[in-house]
Amino acid sequence: AIDSNFDQNRERAGEENGVAVWGPVEPPEKLGIHGTHVAVDYDICLADGACLENCPVDVFTWVDTPDHPVSERKVEPTNEDQCIDCMLCVDICPVDAIDVDAS
Ligand code: SF4
Ligand code: F3S
Repeated sequence: AIDSNFDQNRERAGEENGVAVWGPVEPPEKLGIHGTHVAVDYDICLADGACLENCPVDVFTWVDTPDHPVSERKVEPTNEDQCIDCMLCVDICPVDAIDVDAS
């Protein structure tokens, strides 16, 4: 599962699609955690899609991640600022790849 303390345990490695990226990042195998309020561990996400399909405010968009060992696309929390903290994505993801900081 995603480390919910990633912002303390990882270094900020940059930004992609307007979203913070937390390392280590060594493409294409290691892609880190994307997002801060809504965070997706790209090295765990297997592109199930339930988060993207069910988020009531369309926080997520697909991005291609060719040659990543787990899946060749991931969800970017592009609109994390719109999140209403419903926790649906956290509960629905089959591999616990998402953390939402609702505090
Ligand atoms: Fe969308 Fe709810 Fe997840 Fe926020 S917590 S990203 S509103 S599904
Ligand atoms: Fe990935 Fe989980 Fe969503 S596997 S696509 S973060 S439901």
